[in-house]
Amino acid sequence: MYSNLVTGRREQDCYQIIGKETNIVKEHIRKHKKLYKILGIIIVAAVIVWFAFGRMYIKRHFSEVSVNVSDAAKLDAVDTGDKHILTVYFTRVGNSHFEEGIDAVSSASLMSDNGTLVGNSELLAKMVQSATNSDIYAISTMKVYPSSYTETCMVAKDEFDVDEVIEFREELPDLSGYTDVVLVYPVWWMTIPNAVKTFLQKEDMSGINLHLIATHGGSGVAQSLKAVKEATNANVDENVLDVYDDDVIKAGEKVSAWLQEGRS
Ligand SMILES: Cc1cc2nc3c(=O)[nH]c(=O)nc-3n(C[C@H](O)[C@H](O)[C@H](O)COP(=O)(O)O)c2cc1C
Repeated sequence: MYSNLVTGRREQDCYQIIGKETNIVKEHIRKHKKLYKILGIIIVAAVIVWFAFGRMYIKRHFSEVSVNVSDAAKLDAVDTGDKHILTVYFTRVGNSHFEEGIDAVSSASLMSDNGTLVGNSELLAKMVQSATNSDIYAISTMKVYPSSYTETCMVAKDEFDVDEVIEFREELPDLSGYTDVVLVYPVWWMTIPNAVKTFLQKEDMSGINLHLIATHGGSGVAQSLKAVKEATNANVDENVLDVYDDDVIKAGEKVSAWLQEGRS
């Protein structure tokens, strides 16, 4: 009985202590109600921002995209009549310094085919080549762009600011045997990269029908068609095919349909 009394007292003490602590916590919450409200709002806002932009940023900058180029680029043949087509493309891959063994992890808009990096414009150009059996030419710059997406954006911005003329590593193609050129380029700062602009300015394209495929991260063709028209003397086809960068791998049907439209 004595031990029951002691246990009962202890339980009572415990309840008192718990009650006191609960009151202290309640008092604390009451006093700092405003602070907790603000903290709550910040957490909710952070979650919203994360879902709206964060996941997109991570996907764009750190996700790896695997591709099998021969499969992805394989398209059914399109009847091109008596056209002689050259497909020209510019892409970051081949013009940027990617460290040995780098995968797509640190670089937006890059795909990897068993460790070999592939640019979006390159894959699109290979689709065109496959469907039209055209010759293909990659614009290669003397200048080496950084591997980082953000740094490349800064370099490109500087190029635009001074209207930089880009030097090429290889001779420009002789267009005399061609009737049509399909030019595939990434949209940079809402327009064409200076490498593409310089290419168009240096090539005499009079009499050539120029068809455009623009790949982009959401802006669409933006000012790039206007920029192409200003830079070239080719007959520019205004039916520009635009391909969102995330959709490049599965753009085969879209490319085929666009090529079919241009048959007549
Ligand atoms: C320097 C730079 C500027 C860019 N500017 C734009 C832009 O203005 N609008 C847009 O939608 N995407 C922009 N992008 C995203 C690319 O157009 C897009 O990821 C494209 O598919 C990349 O093609 P590539 O792999 O052939 O280089 C830019 C990318 C870079 C590197």
